[in-house]
Amino acid sequence: MAQNLRAFLQEHASAHQIDAALIDVMNTVADTCVAISSKVRLGDLAGIIGEAGSGNVQGEDQKKLDVIANNMLVEALQGNKHVAGLASEEEDNFVAGNVDGKYLVLFDPLDGSSNIDVNISIGTIFSILPHEGTLELDSFLQAGNQQVASGYALYGPQTLFVLTLRHGVFVFTLNDANEFVLTRDTCQISPSTKEFAINMSNQRHWQSAMQTYVAELLEGKTGKRGKDYNMRWVASMVAEVHRILMRSGVFMYPKDSRDPSKAGKLRLMYEANPMSLLVVQAGGASTNAHENILDIQPQGLHQRVSVVLGSTDEVSYVTEKHVSSN
Ligand code: AHG
Ligand code: MN
Ligand code: MN
Ligand code: MN
Repeated sequence: MAQNLRAFLQEHASAHQIDAALIDVMNTVADTCVAISSKVRLGDLAGIIGEAGSGNVQGEDQKKLDVIANNMLVEALQGNKHVAGLASEEEDNFVAGNVDGKYLVLFDPLDGSSNIDVNISIGTIFSILPHEGTLELDSFLQAGNQQVASGYALYGPQTLFVLTLRHGVFVFTLNDANEFVLTRDTCQISPSTKEFAINMSNQRHWQSAMQTYVAELLEGKTGKRGKDYNMRWVASMVAEVHRILMRSGVFMYPKDSRDPSKAGKLRLMYEANPMSLLVVQAGGASTNAHENILDIQPQGLHQRVSVVLGSTDEVSYVTEKHVSSN
């Protein structure tokens, strides 16, 4: 019989000497994603579609579901005694948890907000960091390579839960009984690919290295790269990363010239770090077009970063192009 998430986590923990408290935190995240999924599935019938009428610290208009998913995660994780603190894309500041907690959970409660109202795949992304001592802002500012676990729930045609505890990447599918069941126990991103993902409408704002790279891809078989590339853009990072884990590819959200104070659109702590750990665990690579994302020392909770992740040959090629152009 197929193994459910709880049984898998127990076995995985004993095979790799993983702390039981961390497993408990992972179960709380997964249970909350099941509850979020139930609301997503019902859409208008659950009153979750549309604007919340508020904004977040990122300067974005919040959708009802951004707020609902955030509140569900905050409440559930504050109720877990192993969680010392939380940080969320939708919260201005970090939120305190329990004084004896050993873990910090950082999350993008609802990724792909622009897709909520049009019934396209969305998700929840999470990152778990270790914690000791007094809780302060500095406690959260750990590089991505310190993450003890990360993952996402994908609310698509199927609801999936994808995780890593630094010993591989595993995929679970939500069944009729609202239980996550293991459906894939290896994810391996091949080094080469013929598929890229970038929001082409921003092309004129990119740096010249990115302009050249994408122009080379568009040349096709007879061009410099000698291949016909295909392009995809879902506008939900969670769906793009899932596609890359399933069939390889390269995903990019580069910084551009519109707002030089921002180093890109995506958030280091809630999006780039957790996704980078998954991708690296699956044999792929992840950089900000110059250095490995997981090595970046964060300066702030809501810090933004350029992202290039996926198949190693492409990520190295893009990164090399940027490094040599400076
Ligand atoms: P969020 O909905 O959590 O704010 O994140 C949206 C992000 C990411 O999921 C996606 O890759 C990107 O924004 C889409 O951006 P465009 O609207 O520029 O396509
Ligand atoms: Mn947002
Ligand atoms: Mn997001
Ligand atoms: Mn979000």
